Amino acid sequence: MAVNMKGRDFLSIMDITLEEMEAIFDLTRRLKQERLAGIRHDHILAGRKLAMIFEKPSTRTRVSFEVGAYELGMYPLYLSARDLQLGRGETIGDTARVLERYVDGIMARVFEHEKLVELANNAEIPVINGLSDTFHPCQIMADLYTVLEKKGRLTGLNMVFVGDGANNIAHSLLVGCTKVGMNITIATPEGYDPDAKIVEYAKGQAARMHCEVKIARDPYEAVKDADVIYTDVWVSMGDEAEAEKRKRDFANYQVNTKLLSEAKEDVIVLHCLPAHRGEEITDEVMDGPHSVVFDEAENRLHVQKAIMAMLIR
Ligand code: CP
Ligand code: NVA
Repeated sequence: MAVNMKGRDFLSIMDITLEEMEAIFDLTRRLKQERLAGIRHDHILAGRKLAMIFEKPSTRTRVSFEVGAYELGMYPLYLSARDLQLGRGETIGDTARVLERYVDGIMARVFEHEKLVELANNAEIPVINGLSDTFHPCQIMADLYTVLEKKGRLTGLNMVFVGDGANNIAHSLLVGCTKVGMNITIATPEGYDPDAKIVEYAKGQAARMHCEVKIARDPYEAVKDADVIYTDVWVSMGDEAEAEKRKRDFANYQVNTKLLSEAKEDVIVLHCLPAHRGEEITDEVMDGPHSVVFDEAENRLHVQKAIMAMLIR
């Protein structure tokens, strides 16, 4: 049966099936190739409007959604939460009920994930997660698509995330990797383990997909046999008050040439960006032959165009 996701929300990779994920990747591939060939896509969602709510700063998410919406024929509205009446106490529910009278989809970047759930519960139109404190599903879809492009497959590969195991990227990777049958190791110091419920969920998927979920303390041990090494900032948006403590706690978790030399020769390095060069990743690795971080950033555009095209009516 053909995949039909029209009208659905995308708050987490938990919301979609493997078949739907593959359909998004198939459409991503087509849109990317056609864009390169100069084929326009503005007929796909011609005349629709997308509200983009941001409670936090953004470079990639804002630009890739805005450009992607435009390329699909939509009108994108950038809405800083500070400037909305939300900032003066209007409820999320009321905001959702008003926005759905004007626009055809909402993309939102928020602190608490529950705010996205509330937006989605109060609006009939699709709500897409552009990052919350818990998940960043559009990022992980672009990451997995990048791995697929570079390695030709996902199932059976070894993904090792090195860094803050309790952040939105680590959580989304746990869900996304096990959904496609990739082994995933989270190498993180004590005190930064992923949320136990998300680990349980990932282990359940892993059992069905015959792959493994591991939490490791020693990054050097963890990256042995890695096909993909992924890192992210040590201090996520919202964690600034703990910056100094985190820099000390993660000092041994830097992705550098020494760490890379422990992995497979053809290992690729991913980073969602923005990077703090010299902290979680060195210049040498970021600009070196194993790094695919800028292709990964580009793929945000293609994958999100596919997601919008599939969800928005
Ligand atoms: N990776 C990512 O979401 O980047 P921005 O914070 O710049 O949107
Ligand atoms: N974990 C990072 C990801 C940024 C795209 C953060 O939340 O700040």
